[in-house]
Amino acid sequence: MTAVTELPEDPRKGTTMRVGVLTGGGDCPGLNAVIRAVVRRGTAEYGFEFVGFRDGWKGPLEGLTMELGIAQVRGILPRGGTILGSSRTNPIKVDGGIERIEENLAKLGIDALVAIGGEDTLGVATTLTERGLHVVGVPKTIDNDLNATDYTFGFDTAVTIATEAIDRLHTTAESHHRILICEVMGRHAGWIALHSGMAGGANVILIPEVPFDLDQVVKWVQSRFEASYAPIIVVAEGALPSDGDLITKDSTLDAFGHVKLSGIGEWLAQQVEARTGHEARTTVLGHVQRGGSPTAFDRVLATRFGLNAIEAVKDEDWGKMVALQGTDIVRVPLEAATGVLKTVPLARYEEAMSFFG
Ligand code: F6P
Repeated sequence: MTAVTELPEDPRKGTTMRVGVLTGGGDCPGLNAVIRAVVRRGTAEYGFEFVGFRDGWKGPLEGLTMELGIAQVRGILPRGGTILGSSRTNPIKVDGGIERIEENLAKLGIDALVAIGGEDTLGVATTLTERGLHVVGVPKTIDNDLNATDYTFGFDTAVTIATEAIDRLHTTAESHHRILICEVMGRHAGWIALHSGMAGGANVILIPEVPFDLDQVVKWVQSRFEASYAPIIVVAEGALPSDGDLITKDSTLDAFGHVKLSGIGEWLAQQVEARTGHEARTTVLGHVQRGGSPTAFDRVLATRFGLNAIEAVKDEDWGKMVALQGTDIVRVPLEAATGVLKTVPLARYEEAMSFFG
């Protein structure tokens, strides 16, 4: 890794298309598959050169780069995490941050940037595009809450991990006649809770989009015991009671202004245990949902996103994000993805409610 405050002019500047690649925000299974596809196709088809930026927007901001070529992307398809590293650095909050990025990209002779990230990372990409930089975005988040794309890669892996956990919780809950609560990620959107809860046969699913009534949750739990089953509640970390507040880990904010979530599962266990007299325990899946190898679905989606992102670079179609619509990969304006989040529609939640209680 090279760290420089004053970057010298790169001698190769101007000789061939030089493409910077970065991964920002929370990591996500499939990031490496995108990087591999971008580099493999860009090198073989178009003779592009690549520069890896380390740790999200921190890389272009501080001039942190790494070599990125065929050798560096060999064998990374099934690997979780990101070989480039990631961070939640927000250059918009840094004094003169955007100008520093522009200067560093110019000095490195970067003609185009492929930014792989969620709403925060792509929000910065939108700002840079508005200032005339050549950026193409790739949507990433296990939360699946980016608009304009049917799915983001990483989501299927997270749902698969959560579903396996729920399957396991069923058998131990039944042995002990306990209520088991599974807290999953999902800050503003309950997609992981909805899909894993449905796939795992949970008898209550709680999501941020629909504030819950504790009395109703208690009724569903009791009816499950009456039917001789042990209840499983799947709760998204951002879910909140209709008469209460969001439960947070502490009061610190990240550079994009997000609080650290987690705690709703434990709170719910105390409440439900006190009201039903049945023992309740909580499992918080946390970062287990984000780590490890991507599923086959996510590998294919991430690879197709990478291939199409480098096509957008070749077409000089700046300010676009690649997106999955139906089975096709299309290009949409970056701001279409970041302007508003894709939350769970009520009708989807109502489908899941058929199995509550
Ligand atoms: O944005 C994806 C996500 O997994 C959210 O669901 C979660 O709230 C957040 O990241 C956790 O991020 P961190 O690892 O920075 O605490």
